[in-house]
Amino acid sequence: MQKKILILDFGSQYTQLIARRVRELNVYCEIHPYNKIPELDDSVRGVILSGSPFSVRDEKAPRVDLSAIKGKLPLLGVCYGAQYLSHYFGGEVMPSATREYGRAMLSVKDASDPLMKDLSVKTQVWMSHGDTIGKIPSAYRIIASTDDVPVAAYHIGGEQSWGIQFHPEVYHSTEGKQLLRNFVVDICGCRQDWTPDSFIETTVSELRAKVADDKVVLGLSGGVDSSVAAVLLHKAIGRNLICIFVDMGLLRKDEFETVLESYKNMGLNVIGVRAGDKFLADLKGVTDPEKKRKIIGRDFIEVFDEEAQKLKDVKWLAQGTIYPDVIESMSVNGPSATIKSHHNVGGLPEKMNLKIVEPLRLLFKDEVRRVGRQLQIPDMILGRHPFPGPGLGIRILGEVTAEKVRILQEADKIFIDGLREFGLYDKVWQAGVVLLPVQSVGVMGDERTYENCVALRAVTSTDGMTADWVHLPYEFLAKMSNDIINKVKGINRVVYDISSKPPATIEWE
Ligand code: XMP
Repeated sequence: MQKKILILDFGSQYTQLIARRVRELNVYCEIHPYNKIPELDDSVRGVILSGSPFSVRDEKAPRVDLSAIKGKLPLLGVCYGAQYLSHYFGGEVMPSATREYGRAMLSVKDASDPLMKDLSVKTQVWMSHGDTIGKIPSAYRIIASTDDVPVAAYHIGGEQSWGIQFHPEVYHSTEGKQLLRNFVVDICGCRQDWTPDSFIETTVSELRAKVADDKVVLGLSGGVDSSVAAVLLHKAIGRNLICIFVDMGLLRKDEFETVLESYKNMGLNVIGVRAGDKFLADLKGVTDPEKKRKIIGRDFIEVFDEEAQKLKDVKWLAQGTIYPDVIESMSVNGPSATIKSHHNVGGLPEKMNLKIVEPLRLLFKDEVRRVGRQLQIPDMILGRHPFPGPGLGIRILGEVTAEKVRILQEADKIFIDGLREFGLYDKVWQAGVVLLPVQSVGVMGDERTYENCVALRAVTSTDGMTADWVHLPYEFLAKMSNDIINKVKGINRVVYDISSKPPATIEWE
């Protein structure tokens, strides 16, 4: 049985980071909302209480019944979690006299405490709280302090329970990972055996048991998640996995052929469906971005469903859902509007009446890539920039026509190939070209032209929630502008988008 750490989420912005850090130690962990504690079976080796935007003194502060956990399993309270363990057990939490945000120097008071093992006597940590523990209960013992925070870390006597008022999960807590290691490995006794290999092995055998001899259908998009999900399932059930790759006519130039080819080379049982004409016909005359998204999403479902109906005896629909979506959908704060609006094919499962299988639902994005690498999926797929579901449909501002798709595909190809050629592709998180609904005057030879303008966009980001424009070299931008204007008929002006998100967004629609 895979041993795990439970992280009970009180709504902190850092909760996912705690999980990431624990998993980087090759220890498996799961995040659950504080008010939905799962069954505590033998696989649970320890519990971490997260931070929270609330103060424990608030009337509405999240409260949790810890009677099955505290004193029975190793327990680590982080920030709010630490204040909680103090406040409700006889200590005192009060507003901080000085602001306790940002860097602080932690002095270890008891180096023999197992949580402090191998930490430097003085080590930098990151604080972020408006409250502070004024008094700890009598059985609690301080094991580390900072100048402003005497109770920076404590150990509860007679129990395997600790509290820390700083955030070991953030990058600026320089030895935070060592502290988490001390907790999950030494104290909780988790072996560091949760690796891509072990994930693949267990997932493949779980998939075999779950799906058995049934047929499964999966929609490939060319992106990382659906590709890794497909290869995992293929490893488990072989040709009983049938993949459908739809060309909406809004993919990048030549993408449908190249990606389809590489899927076939990977041994996948894949059906390629060309449906560009349908999408273009339905998008005719439509200019509103949300309407375009809806039409593309609906058409995709129709095409996919029609193809799937042709297959006999399919029982399952596989999806490339990953952990952040899962956490989001059950989060303390409720599902966020942003993520929802991006799920263009959300209606698929209801329509198809199939059982759902999601082999990646426990993985973060970078873990998906690591698993993909282990499965020997080509870099051409694993290292690919994110690409929006509605494809070039939302990069053609205003009405989408076949001619505009052609122009944009040509320009986009020059830009993306250029990024690769100049060794810039992997330094950029996402890049693309946007066709603007703007014609401007130009001169080519002796003639005046009145043609289209495109904007180049290249951003750095970690999750698409925030992004900054990339400082691409001028020589590169100059070459791209020249090549695009000279080679793509219909474009006489190229601009570079230098807006960050927020306040702008990555896409223009
Ligand atoms: P924005 O434009 O919101 O984009 O800053 C953030 C990330 O989401 C992608 N994006 C979409 N993905 N369907 C998708 O599947 C959509 O409708 C959609 N709109 C934006 C965008 O490419 C970026 O990676």
